[in-house]
Amino acid sequence: MAKAIHGFLTLFIFLGFVASLASAAFHVCDPVRFTQLGLDMSVFRYCDKSLPYHVRAKDLIDSMTLQEKAIQLGNKAYGVPRLGLPPYEWWSEALHGVSSTGPGTWFNSTVPGATSFPTVILSTASFNESLWKTIGQAVSTEARAMHNLGMAGLTFWSPNVNVVRDPRWGRILETPGEDPFVVGRYAANYVRGLQDVEGQETTADLNSRPLKVSSCCKHYAAYDVDNWETVARWTFDARVREQDMVETFLRPFEMCIKEGDVSSVMCSYNSVNGIPTCADPKLLKQTVRDDWDLHGYIVSDCDSIEVMHHDRNWLNGVEEDQVSQAMRAGLDLDCGVYYPNFVESSVLKGKMRSSDIDKALKNNYVVLMRLGYFDGMPAYDSLGTNDVCTADHIALAADAARQGIVLLKNDNNALPLDPTKYKSIALIGPHANASSVMIGNYAGTPCKIISPLTAFSGMASVDYQMGCADVACKEDTLIAAAEDAARKAEATVIVVGIDGSVETEGTDRTDLLLPGFQTQMINQVATAATGPVTLVIISAGGVDISFAQQNPSINAIIWAGYPGEQGGTAISDVVFGKHNPGGRLPLTWYKADYADKIPMTSMQLRPDDKLDMKCDQVVEFEVQVSNVGAVDGAHVVMVYSVPPSAIVGAPAKQVVAFKRVFVGAGKSEKVKFSLDACKSLAVVDKSALIVLPTGEHTIEIGSGDGNLISFPLHVDLQKN
Ligand SMILES: *[C@@H]1O[C@H](CO)[C@@H](O)[C@H](O)[C@H]1NC(C)=O
Ligand SMILES: *[C@@H]1O[C@H](CO)[C@@H](O)[C@H](O)[C@H]1NC(C)=O
Ligand SMILES: *[C@@H]1O[C@H](CO)[C@@H](O)[C@H](O)[C@H]1NC(C)=O
Repeated sequence: MAKAIHGFLTLFIFLGFVASLASAAFHVCDPVRFTQLGLDMSVFRYCDKSLPYHVRAKDLIDSMTLQEKAIQLGNKAYGVPRLGLPPYEWWSEALHGVSSTGPGTWFNSTVPGATSFPTVILSTASFNESLWKTIGQAVSTEARAMHNLGMAGLTFWSPNVNVVRDPRWGRILETPGEDPFVVGRYAANYVRGLQDVEGQETTADLNSRPLKVSSCCKHYAAYDVDNWETVARWTFDARVREQDMVETFLRPFEMCIKEGDVSSVMCSYNSVNGIPTCADPKLLKQTVRDDWDLHGYIVSDCDSIEVMHHDRNWLNGVEEDQVSQAMRAGLDLDCGVYYPNFVESSVLKGKMRSSDIDKALKNNYVVLMRLGYFDGMPAYDSLGTNDVCTADHIALAADAARQGIVLLKNDNNALPLDPTKYKSIALIGPHANASSVMIGNYAGTPCKIISPLTAFSGMASVDYQMGCADVACKEDTLIAAAEDAARKAEATVIVVGIDGSVETEGTDRTDLLLPGFQTQMINQVATAATGPVTLVIISAGGVDISFAQQNPSINAIIWAGYPGEQGGTAISDVVFGKHNPGGRLPLTWYKADYADKIPMTSMQLRPDDKLDMKCDQVVEFEVQVSNVGAVDGAHVVMVYSVPPSAIVGAPAKQVVAFKRVFVGAGKSEKVKFSLDACKSLAVVDKSALIVLPTGEHTIEIGSGDGNLISFPLHVDLQKN
C-alpha cells in the first residue's frame, strides 16, 4: 500500500495539484493508476461505480483463483496485481487517538504526532455521551488525514468494550469500566464518532452506508484475564453461565452493533465454556452475524488461530481443521498468517467450501468499498497535515480529561486552591512530572505532552520533589526532601499512582495497593506539610486509598486516570478551580483484601446460592442385601436422589448409582456406594446449567420391588 500511494503522490506533485502537504487520497479504481499498471480499468466490473457494492465485490472475488483468495484473508492482504488490486494492511488502531500500534499506521516528520486523548477509562468517567462521540469524530478526522498521506489504513480495531469484571485486570485503562450498559453506550457513541459520515448516519441499505473510518468492537467475548498467576489469556477457558453471558459479557457488543452499527467485531484469544471464541459458530455466525445483523466483517485477535494451534492443540493440532472451523464459524479475516497459509489446502482437502471463503471476502471488501477505498470519498479526500493536532483537537483532549477527573475527597472545601493566595506549591511524587505515562497504551506519538510540572509551573512557583525514584518506589531515601518542600510551600500537591509496569496488556495486577514506599511517602509528606494537601491518583484500576481517606492531613483527593497529552493542564485546572470536577468512577474501587478473596478466573458475577457443597465432598454408605429366599440370584440395587421439594421443574427423583450383586440363598452381601455430592445431587436448571440446590435432599435406595430405604442429606451455604 505504501508503495502504491507513494507513486500516486509523486504524480500529483508533478502535476502541481498539491501545494502543501494536503491530500493525495489514494483509491483503487483510478483510471490513471490502472494505466500506470498497464491495465484497462474499464474491463474490471468491480470498478464500475454504477453497480451495488455486493455485486462489485462478487466480481472481484470471482476473478480470483483459490490461491489469490487465500492470501487476501490475513491482516496483510497481498492484493492481486493482475487485477489492479493493491495490497492492504487491515491492522490500524485508534483507541484514544490515532495509534501507531498496528502496522497500518505510523508517524514520520510529515505527521510527527496525533492528538492523544485521555485513556478510555478517564473519558468514560465524564459520563458525557456527546463527548465520547466528539472524540471519535476528532480521531477519525486525524485518521482520515493520515490515510490520505499514506500513513494510516482505514480499518481501526478500536474500541475495547470488554466489561471489567475483576479490578486486577491489566487492560482496564483501555475500557469503559465495569457496567455493561455504560460500556455499551460508550461503544455506540465512540463508534458513531469514528464511522458516521455526516448526513448519512442511516441509509436504506446499511451494508452500503458510507464510513468515515471503520471501527471494531473487541474482544468478543468474556475476555478479561491477561496473565494472572499461571493463567494466560491464550489458554484461559472462561466458564460463563448463559445468564451472565447475556446480561454482562455480550451486552456491550450487542449495543455496539445494534446502536453503533459498527462495521467490525474482533473475537478474543480465550475460550468460552471450552470453545475458542474465534471458532465458535454460536458466538460468531449465529449471534453476531445473524441475531445482531452485523454490517461488516469479523476479525480474529492477532494470531488467535495460531494460539489454537500452538497453545491449545485445538482439533488435534491440524491447521486445515482449525482454519476451516474458524471460517465456518463466521470468522472473515485472520489477524495473522493461518488463513493465508492454510485456507487453500483446507479447501483442496475438502475441509471447507470455496463458497465459505467467498462469503468472508465479500464481508471484507464491502467494508473497504463503504470507506471509499475503491472510489475515493470527496468529503474527506482533502484532509491533510493541517487537520492533525489542531488547536481544537488539543483543546478537546484537555476538556475530556477535565470532564473525567473525579473528586474523591474535599474536606472543608480545601479545593480549589485560589492561585492568588497559594503562590508557592510543593509538587511531589513519582507522577508529578508524568509524561508518556499519561497517554497509556494503544497510543500514538502525541502532539505535545503537558506534564503536571509544566502546568503547575504556569500557575505558581513550584518546588518539585519526586519523593520516590519511580512508581515502584523501592526506597524511602527521597522522602525527606519531599517533606522539606511540603513544609516550606503554601500548598502541597502529591501526584502518585501506578503505570504500565503494574497494569497493562499482558500484565494483571497482583494487589490493589500503591507500590513500595508510596503510601509511607504520602503520609509523611502530608504530616510535614504546612498548607493544604491534595493527593492526585494516576491509575486506571482502583487503588486502595482508605488510608488517605481517613488521614485528616490529606485534605483532598482526585483521581485523574491516565489523562492523555493534556493531562497536566486538566489536573492543574481542577486544582486551581478553572474547572469544577464532575466525573464519576466507572468502576468499583475494592479494598486490598479483595485480591485474597476471589480468584481472577472466577467469571461468576453474583453470589451463588446454589453451588456451595464442595464437589469433592463424598457421601459413603453401605447397603446390606439379604437373600431371604431359597434360590441363589442376582439383585440390582438402585440409588436415587430426590431434590428438595421447592425446586421448580426438577425431576421427582434421579438414578445416581446402581449395582448388580449376586447373593446366595439365605446369604447377605454388603454393597458399598460412594456418591460425589455435586454429581449426584445436582439438577439441570431452566437455563440448562447444572446446579446443586440448597436444602433437604433425600437418597433413596430401591429394591426394585417397591421397597425403599431412604435418608436425608442437607446441603446448605456454610457447609464446606
Ligand atoms: C459534554 O461534552 C461536550 C463536548 O463534547 C461539552 O461541550 C459539554 O459541555 C459537555 N456536557 C456537560 C454537561 O458537561
Ligand atoms: C512519511 O511517510 C509517508 C508514507 O510512507 C511518505 O509518503 C512520506 O514521504 C514520509 N515523510 C517523510 C518526511 O519521510
Ligand atoms: C520532566 O520530564 C521531562 C520529560 O520526561 C524531562 O525532559 C524533564 O527533564 C523532567 N523535568 C524534571 C525537572 O525532572
